[in-house]
Parts: sequence; C-alpha cells; structure tokens
Amino acid sequence: MKIDILLGLQWGDEGKGKIVDVMTPRYDVIARFQGGPNAGHSLEFNGIKHVLHIIPSGIFHREKINIIGNGVVIDPAIFEEEINALVKMGLDPTSNLLISKKAHLILPTHKLLDAAQEAKKGKNKIGSTLKGIGPTYTDKTARHGMRVVDILAPDFTERYNALTASHKEMLKMYDFDYSEVLPKMELNFLNALNTLKKFKFIDNEYELNDYLNNEKSVLAEGAQGTLLDLEFGSYPFVTSSNTIAAGAFAGLGLAPSHIGKVIGIVKAYCTRVGSGPFPTELFDETGETLRKQGNEFGATTGRPRRCGWLDLVALKYAIMINGVNEIALTKADVMSNFETINICTAYKVNDEITSRFPTDSNAVIEPVLTSFKGWQQDISNIKTYDELPVEFKMYIQYIEKETGAKVSIVSVGPDREATIFR
Ligand code: GDP
Ligand code: IMO
Ligand code: MG
Repeated sequence: MKIDILLGLQWGDEGKGKIVDVMTPRYDVIARFQGGPNAGHSLEFNGIKHVLHIIPSGIFHREKINIIGNGVVIDPAIFEEEINALVKMGLDPTSNLLISKKAHLILPTHKLLDAAQEAKKGKNKIGSTLKGIGPTYTDKTARHGMRVVDILAPDFTERYNALTASHKEMLKMYDFDYSEVLPKMELNFLNALNTLKKFKFIDNEYELNDYLNNEKSVLAEGAQGTLLDLEFGSYPFVTSSNTIAAGAFAGLGLAPSHIGKVIGIVKAYCTRVGSGPFPTELFDETGETLRKQGNEFGATTGRPRRCGWLDLVALKYAIMINGVNEIALTKADVMSNFETINICTAYKVNDEITSRFPTDSNAVIEPVLTSFKGWQQDISNIKTYDELPVEFKMYIQYIEKETGAKVSIVSVGPDREATIFR
C-alpha cells in the first residue's frame, strides 16, 4: 500500500484537523510526522469542538491506529492534558495511540529558552507559539536532545539534569529569571512522564513499513503549513521542522517510493499568526470581517490571526514543493456575504511583476489582484457540489486551472458533516 500525505499549503490553520478527521474512515493508520504542540488542530462533531496539539486527528475513530512519529516533538505536560480531555470523553487512547521512541522531548527549559530568545529579538521576534519548538529542534540537530526512549533509560535523571544545566546557563546569558516558574514546570513535566509511560513506545519505521507491507493504508498528517517550512517558508519567520511532503518520509521512516496522493488543504483566503511577510494581508474592514466571520483566533495561543486574500503565487509554490494532486478547499462559507472576492495572481517586487515566491523575507511585495463576483449566499448547509452557487464554482474552477490540482473536497463549515466530496 501507499502512504497519502495531507498537509497545509499556506501558513497553517487551513483546517487540517477537520479534514483528517473526515478522511480517517478511509485509512487504517493516521500518523503525525513533524511539529508539536505549536499545532492546534480543531475538529467538530455532535456539536462539540475539540482541539488537538500533539495527538493525531484520527484519534476519535477508536478502531484506527494513531501514531506520533519520530519527527514530532512532545511536551509531556501538554500531552497529558490532551489525554485527560480524551479520557473524559470516554475514549481510551492507550488502545489506539502509539508513540515513536525517537520523538524528541520538549523540556521545561526549552519553553523558557523559546521565551528568552523571542524577548531578545524584540521587534524582530518570530512570534513563536512559545511552546519550546525552536530550542527542542535545535538540541535535536545539535545532537544532545532527549528522546522518548530516554525516559526508560537508567540514567534519565542525570541526562535531564545535564541538559537542563546547560539551558540554565543560556537563560542566565539572556538575563532570564527562571527561578520562580521553573520548579512548578519541572514538577508537571516529571509527573506527566508517568502518563506518557502508559503508552506503547514503538520503532515507528518498522511498524509503519509493516503496515504498508500488510496492505494497511496510512495517512500522514502534517502540522503548520508549507509557508512555515524551515527550508522553503519565509525564513526566518518559519517553524523549525519540515512541514512539506518530503518531511513525512523523514518524520515517519518511510521511503519516498511509498508515496500515494498528496492532499493539500487550502483556506479560501489566507491567514497567518506571528510575524513575517504576508503579501495579501488586509489591514482594513475586510480583513476584520474575515477574522470575525472566520473566527480567526489561534487554536493554540488565542492570538488574532492576520487575514488576507487567497495568494496564488504562494499556493502554486506550495503545490510545486509538495507535488500536490488534490486540494481540500476550506472556509469559503466565511465569505458568503462578500460582494467581491479577490485573488492574488502575481507579485510586484521592485516594479517588476513576478510569479515567483521571493527568498528574501525583506522583499517589498505588492500583490496583483484579480476580482471575482461573490456568491452572496449561505453555502454552509449545501451537501453536493452541484448545488453550490455558480460564482463559487467559478472561483473553484479558476483555482484548479491555475494550480493544476483538483479540488476534490469542499468544506463549508467546521463540522464533520459540512463536507462535500466530489
Ligand atoms: P488546522 O491547524 O489546519 O487544523 O486548523 P485550525 O483548527 O487551527 O483552524 C481552522 C478553524 O476553522 C477551526 O476553528 C475549524 O473548526 C474551522 N474550520 C475548518 N473548516 C472550516 C470550514 O470549512 N468552514 C468554517 N467556517 N470553519 C472551518
Ligand atoms: P497548525 O498545525 C499557524 C507559527 C507561529 C510562528 C511560527 C514559529 O495549527 O496549522 P513556533 O512555535 O513553531 O516556533 O512558531 O510558526 N506557527 C503556526 N501558525 N498554525 C500552526 O500550526 C503553527 N505552528 C507554528 O505563529 O509564526
Ligand atoms: Mg491550527
């Protein structure tokens, strides 16, 4: 069998959680391959909304295996909170959630370092989620991070103390006073390790290859979005992992030859949380309307999301990098009362028109916009593609024509049921 990859094609929060939940019945295994609690994946069913951070969005389907892959970074305290919330709902995640032995651990001091480094950057800060993502991946690549497998090692405490001691030295250099907050964070961390230990730790590369060899289907769930990718996002305003399709193979231990479909999630407009370039950002009432009607506030941090028009330059770039075959288009219902809807088709940089996504994050970009007539109709209860308003179908056809990818799923609301398959 092949592995399908589902990921965000913009700056995150495209609706990955919802679409993974909806797609899960078609797969045997759902696996997260990168990121950590910086992610906030929302899904809704039976009138209840859930937000997942580290746990894959297939977890509500009890008969499906969910895997936290080696490319993920785990904060045990946040993991414990997530597990407790699921248990409260009557689920038993120990029965269908497996954790990679190779996944790295976010230590309390990683979170403090994240805060200290952001504070030091001042107005140039990345706008990180302050979950310790950057410092944890930094330790991973520097080859002194701690992994899930280490929890079971006899010298865990010594290694924890050694790494934490080096972090404390760095915090002192940043003039960051950790004395009051750290003891409680460490207590939570150490307690939460007991919750983590209740789960089966696996060599996910063996496990996943076995699944594929035994005709089981796997869906890889991305976090963040392509434009936050460490290599291809608007560096340095990116996250510290590979959010792109290539990241799924390194983050799960599968060969690229196993690739099946790449499904890209696209919001019908754009949002971004944190700093960095956002060429189609709207600073006017329209931006405010998108934020309000789309409830564009971070699922992890609660921060208001920056809002703007759909950006085809960035989208085509993301489709190229990921080899996207199919698009799931979300949140067009948010623009139901818009008279006019714009799409950015090119950038003007230094008086020159370009269709390329610039490498320099300081480039001053003016978006070239094309206007579409809005559908001005509530689409949130529509169940079939044929019933969609003609103006919306034209919007979809334009995206398909420009990107060469088929819009195979149209999401018209946060609930599982508000999904149209073509
Ligand atoms: P993710 O990080 O990609 O999983 O996305 P988030 O969960 O952070 O943000 C997406 C938000 O939009 C969540 O509040 C979802 O419940 C909501 N959502 C998802 N799809 C749709 C849709 O088609 N229409 C509307 N109105 N909301 C949606
Ligand atoms: P999901 O999976 C949106 C952004 C942060 C910041 C930058 C770096 O829910 O789509 P980090 O904490 O990773 O060091 O922050 O990346 N960011 C996200 N934005 N959705 C996310 O995840 C994000 N995860 C990180 O806001 O700009
Ligand atoms: Mg999110």
